[in-house]
Amino acid sequence: MAEYEDRIHGFDKYTSGLFAPEDDALKQAREDMDREGLPSINVSASEGKLLHVLALISAPRRILEIGTLGGYSAIWLARALPAGGKLVSLEIDPHHADVARGNIARAGLADRVEVRTGPALETLSQMIAYGEEPFDLVFIDADKDAYVDYLGKAMALLRDGGILLGDNTLPDAVLTDGADSGTKRYNAAVAAHPDLVSINVPVLRDKGIDGLLLSIKRTRAA
Ligand code: SAH
Ligand code: DHB
Ligand code: MG
Repeated sequence: MAEYEDRIHGFDKYTSGLFAPEDDALKQAREDMDREGLPSINVSASEGKLLHVLALISAPRRILEIGTLGGYSAIWLARALPAGGKLVSLEIDPHHADVARGNIARAGLADRVEVRTGPALETLSQMIAYGEEPFDLVFIDADKDAYVDYLGKAMALLRDGGILLGDNTLPDAVLTDGADSGTKRYNAAVAAHPDLVSINVPVLRDKGIDGLLLSIKRTRAA
């Protein structure tokens, strides 16, 4: 097993070194998170770059992120926005939100990124009730037990043809029949959803392999 983990680590080091080197803003964002006592559960650099490239492919004007932490993934995503584009990121913890706002400002993205504090399910319900303009891309990365609920809200806020992304979709629970986890339930709900075309993409992380569930919302015939 150790040999396998060494190989994953080596593949991640190689890939991120070549394709996802961090500039000062990203390095400082991680340092700030550490200093402020935030957990190191942000996406890896190579997954951040994957988010960035997926966003460039879909050329979004509006991105929604659920789960901000210190703003690390928000920086990768927001850097794919055109001038005048917008990323709204939802975070329950006011301290996380503060750290994120600082990191986003230092990255020069304060004009494009808005961090909204509060329980995401409530914020999402309000956004739907108040007729929030649809998003072109939604990235779900908050509390795993609520992913299936976030799926329902995200579908209401995502435009036809938009991209839906869910992080941490290869939990160990998928290796055991009957074992339960929030993202395993999310995977099943997405796979069964008639309006989503999806694939679970393995991603390299420092600690091992995880998944990013990539979906496109199909356009329904009228
Ligand atoms: N996307 C970030 C990592 C997010 S970690 C990155 O890759 O950089 C998950 C975050 O979701 C944490 O900051 C946690 O406080 C937040 N969170 C947990 N439950 C939440 C909820 N109910 N509503 C909004 N945010 C929540
Ligand atoms: C962990 C990683 C994540 O990407 C996340 O969103 C939550 C937790 C973890 O490694 O524990
Ligand atoms: Mg995550």
